[in-house]
Amino acid sequence: MTVRPGAYPWPNHKNAWRPNHIHFSYFGPAFATRLVTQMYFPGDPLLAFDPIFNAVPDQAARNRLIAAFDMDVTEADWALGYRFDVVLRGRDATPMGH
Ligand SMILES: [Fe+2]
Repeated sequence: MTVRPGAYPWPNHKNAWRPNHIHFSYFGPAFATRLVTQMYFPGDPLLAFDPIFNAVPDQAARNRLIAAFDMDVTEADWALGYRFDVVLRGRDATPMGH
């Protein structure tokens, strides 16, 4: 459970804003196996303008960085629920930072 972050400005270009996102960091058995990614929320209008999100070259891979809203994990009167499906290896692996 966390608070959904808001967009924030950054000085990358004129009127630049990062879309809402959450950083994930996964540690394997050694530091060199640490994987870091950012995951986003569906329907965010800033995704079209974000150079980090758009640095992922293919649309299907970008789509894998966007959470899915899920009513099954949404809690009444309390919190919206999203599923972040991180795939560590293989053809459908979530794009990772280096
Ligand atoms: Fe960030």
